[in-house]
Amino acid sequence: MEQYVIKGGNPLVGEVEIAGAKNAALPIISAAIMTDETVTLENLPDVNDVNVLLESISGIGAHVERIDRHTVKINGSTIRDCSVEYEYIRKIRASYYLLGALLGKYNKAEVPLPGGCNIGSRPIDQHLKGFRAIGAKVDIKNGTILASCHHMTGAHIFMDVVSVGATINIMMAASRAVGRTTIENAAKEPHVVDVANFLNSMGANIKGAGTDVIRIVGVPRFHGCTYAIVPDMIEAGTFMMAAAATKGDIVVKNVIPKHMEAVSAKLLEIGCEVEEFDDSIRVVAAKRLIRTHIKTQPYPGYPTDMQPQIAVVLALSRGTSIVTESIFENRFKYVDELTRMGANVKVEGNTAIIDGVPGFTGARISSPDLRAGAALVIAALQAEGISVVDDIGYILRGYEDFDGKLRSLGAEIEMVSSEKEIEKFKLRIG
Ligand code: EPZ
Repeated sequence: MEQYVIKGGNPLVGEVEIAGAKNAALPIISAAIMTDETVTLENLPDVNDVNVLLESISGIGAHVERIDRHTVKINGSTIRDCSVEYEYIRKIRASYYLLGALLGKYNKAEVPLPGGCNIGSRPIDQHLKGFRAIGAKVDIKNGTILASCHHMTGAHIFMDVVSVGATINIMMAASRAVGRTTIENAAKEPHVVDVANFLNSMGANIKGAGTDVIRIVGVPRFHGCTYAIVPDMIEAGTFMMAAAATKGDIVVKNVIPKHMEAVSAKLLEIGCEVEEFDDSIRVVAAKRLIRTHIKTQPYPGYPTDMQPQIAVVLALSRGTSIVTESIFENRFKYVDELTRMGANVKVEGNTAIIDGVPGFTGARISSPDLRAGAALVIAALQAEGISVVDDIGYILRGYEDFDGKLRSLGAEIEMVSSEKEIEKFKLRIG
C-alpha cells in the first residue's frame, strides 16, 4: 500500500497549477453519455475517481478515447446496458450520477445503492424524490436502485436538504423530461453550475444554476460538444492552507477567485496576506496566525471539503478556535491522528474545540478519508522531523500529482511503498 514519507519544517514557496474540479468532472463524464455524438472533455483532473468512472462508462458500452492526460473523447452511442456493476459503485460513490444520465437518455437505469462513506451515512433519498417527481418508478431491490418510466414530465421539486449530488442528478434527468422542471432549494456550488453549463453546451435548456432556483425546459436530444472542466476550488484551497500552515508564500494558478471567497476571507481573518489576480491567488503567511471560528455551510458558505485543512492551520494558530461541521456527521476522524502530532483538539458532537500549539512533531499517521488525508499531509509538512502517512489511496482519488506539486513548492515528500524506501528517504534527507 502506498504511503507518503515527509520531512517537515520547510516553508512552501512558489507557484502551483490547479487541475480541473473532480466534483465537476464526475457528473460531467456521466452526462457525456446522454448524447450519441462525440463529446470532448478538456482539463479533466488525472485522479483515480475520474479514471474509475471512465472505466465504468466503458463497462456499459460507451466509447472512451484518451487524447492526453487531461483530455478524453466520449461517445455514448454504443451503450448496450443500462445497469452499472457493483464493482464500480463500490469504488466510487459518484457512479450514482449514471442514474440521472441513463434515466434521462434511456428512461431506465439500474445502479447499485452506494454505501456510506468515511464521513457519514450519505443517504440518497433526495435523488430518488426528484426522479419520482418527474415520473420515474424507483425501487430498491437486492441493493440496487431500479429506475424506469415511460416518459418523464417536468415537475416542481422542493429539495428538503441542500444537496449537490441530488441537485445535479435531478438536473440531468429533468433536462430530457417533457416540459418544465423547477428545482427549489438547489445547491449553488461552482460544480453544479459547471454541470449545467455542460448540459447547455449539449443543447439543454437550464437557467438559474448557481442560485437556489433552477429552471429546466426538457429537450428531446443532445448533440456533441467540447467542454473544459472548471478549476478545482478544493484543490486550490488545500494549497492555500498549506501556505498558511508552513509560513509559506504560494500562488495558486488557473483558479476562479470568486469561488474561493469564503476560504480567502478566513485566511485574511487569521492573519494571512491574500492577493487576488484574474486567475490566480497569492497567499503569504509571514507570522504566527490567530484563532477564528468556522461553521461549514453549503456554497457560498465555508466548504465542508475545506474543514480538515483549516482545522490543521487553526491547531497551529494562537488562541482557541471552534470548528463546527454542519454538513456531515463524521468528519473529525483526523483529530486522533493530529493529536499524535501534538495538536490540542477536543471534539464534542459536530464541534471541534482547538487550542493552538506552536508546532507539531512528526509521527506515523493514517488518512481516514480524502480531505482529511490532505490535511494530515499539511500537518506533516509543518511538523518537526519525519512523518509517514498511510492509506494515501484516499488522497490519490482526488488530488493529481499531490506529492509532485508539493515538491515543486519546496516540500521534502516522497510517495513510497515499503519500509525500505522510508529508510532510504531518511538516510538521504538526514
Ligand atoms: C458532494 O457530495 C461532494 N462529492 C462532496 O465532496 C462534498 O463534501 C459534498 O458534495 C458537499 O459539498 C462529489 O461531488 C462527488 P450532498 P454529495 O448531497 O453530493 C445530505 C470530496 O471530498 N443528503 O451535498 O454526496 C447528506 O447526508 C467529497 O470531494 C441527504 O440527506 O453531498 C449531507 O448531510 C466529500 N439526502 C448533505 O445532504 C440526499 O439524498 C449534503 O450532501 C443527499 C444528501
